[in-house]
Amino acid sequence: MGKPNGSVHKDGFQFMVDQQSLMGFPWISMYGTDPNVPTTFSRENFEAAMLHVIREPNINSTAILRADILYEDHYELEDGKPALKESHREKFDLSDTDAKRINVDEDTPRETFLPQDLNLFAKYSIVRRILPRNPYKDAVINQTCLVMNSTDPEFKETSAIIYHPHLDSSDICPFYIPHVKQVAILFHKQRITVHYIPFEEVKNNEVPELLKDESQRVVRTAYRLLQTAYKHSRGVMTGYEKKVNHDVVVDKVKFQDQYINLKKKYSKFLVENWAESTDPKKHVFEDISIAAFLIELWIKIYGPDFKNKMQFRDLGCGNGVLVYILVSEGIKGYGIDARHRKSWSIFPQDTKNCLKEQVIIPSILLRPHPDIKKQYPHLEHNGRLFPMKVAHEYIAPATIVYSSEDLLKSPQVNIAEFPSDTFIIGNHSDELTCWIPLLGYPFMVIPCCSHNLSGNRTRFNVRKGVNNGINGNSSYAGLVDHVEDISTKLGWKIEKEMLRIPSTRNAAVISYENQDMGKFPTASAYDVLLAEGGADNWIQNTMTLMKGHPRSH
Ligand SMILES: C[S@@+](CC[C@H](N)C(=O)[O-])C[C@H]1O[C@@H](n2cnc3c(N)ncnc32)[C@H](O)[C@@H]1O
Repeated sequence: MGKPNGSVHKDGFQFMVDQQSLMGFPWISMYGTDPNVPTTFSRENFEAAMLHVIREPNINSTAILRADILYEDHYELEDGKPALKESHREKFDLSDTDAKRINVDEDTPRETFLPQDLNLFAKYSIVRRILPRNPYKDAVINQTCLVMNSTDPEFKETSAIIYHPHLDSSDICPFYIPHVKQVAILFHKQRITVHYIPFEEVKNNEVPELLKDESQRVVRTAYRLLQTAYKHSRGVMTGYEKKVNHDVVVDKVKFQDQYINLKKKYSKFLVENWAESTDPKKHVFEDISIAAFLIELWIKIYGPDFKNKMQFRDLGCGNGVLVYILVSEGIKGYGIDARHRKSWSIFPQDTKNCLKEQVIIPSILLRPHPDIKKQYPHLEHNGRLFPMKVAHEYIAPATIVYSSEDLLKSPQVNIAEFPSDTFIIGNHSDELTCWIPLLGYPFMVIPCCSHNLSGNRTRFNVRKGVNNGINGNSSYAGLVDHVEDISTKLGWKIEKEMLRIPSTRNAAVISYENQDMGKFPTASAYDVLLAEGGADNWIQNTMTLMKGHPRSH
């Protein structure tokens, strides 16, 4: 059982089910902020926060994908009377979702019950369509959202937010919204209170038993709504803007629609046939997101027929899931990794053909410097020797020396010289992360663990005065900044996006514009290599990733 009625929580929030609702009949008051501590934020702060939550309902529930705004009217008071300022109607196509749809054609706002004494009018009248993240489980619904102010100057600091889902019975109410007919969040006299109208009829102001029990989900939801309203209003007041760059490079709606499309096609197979010991859910949905993002990015860069204009290379592709999705979508390309993975065996043959077990040794480390090549055009390699210590169960420790000539010829080595229409993906590709901008092809890097060009673990500092929106001066923030720094020095025009993936390492550094494209390795590539302290141990370090050592033919 929950706490008795009227209980006060640690944060000072009060369970108010025993008190008459300020919203009047048939509203029931649920929770309010501490009555003894007036909030310090203003009505404007509260409204800005709530309008944000109305447009981004996924803030309140992870089961929600997004809201499409179908109807929006904006009124302001003129001579004490509400006057229409702006009106907006939008139609969204629902043909691409199989989800159950509840009253999705009803796009005029529904009415509500209002307190007599506050003289409220709808400043914003919005109808949003809520799309669930899992269209198989939850229904799409339309919901009226009202942002109300008072025409009475005495209550000019009062604001009420009303949510009215277009439903008439609790049986069809989806899981992701509170199971009540309407919700009100009231900002009045520097206090926020949350109120419900239950589905069942309220007789003689009697509170239904369910709403008296704080352990019930619907009651806990009221508490959470209060927490969100309070936290976000304070956030607006203190000027806190989430320093993230979501949906900058690729349009959110296009990305989400593509995500749903790919999820429907591939998630079941991938989760059911998962061959690794890691959590399939995390990897599968992460790679589906990345694939959706890449496809939309490529449409943006190369146009709708991008499949005829580019091919990808996923460097350090690991389990190959991303390659499987992209190849199955008819996109040309390969995944390359030093180590074959169990998962590779579950994929259809056309994907298997596109997964290569090779160690990547960028050709800049093996080929002659361009100035030398000018003088001696016949030279194919730089003549360097790379000693490798080897130890094996059956033989004594020994040193094998590989020449750059051996490595250039070895089928187990990939020198990252690709066709000119290549786009490189470096998804958490660890040792390869900082190398990718140096290879000379358009790319998307999603940094994770920090390594230098020798493949040694390294911590980079965020450059002075740079705020890349990632937590302070962490090793991760340093790595993201370093990839940006290297890229810029090489002439890449950088775009950045915080990907919508279930990983905290979600920053993507993207570039597809460089005046020197096609001319790599440029002089600045050699300069960067030098400035980074060279890459002397790269070959030794990365070859240890392979099971066997490379051989020539
Ligand atoms: C952290 S895993 C990421 C795998 C995959 N991209 C993902 O996100 O699940 C990094 C991968 O990079 C590969 N790798 C690192 N350096 C490499 C190199 N020089 N050549 C080939 N693969 C390399 C590793 O074998 C490893 O599978």
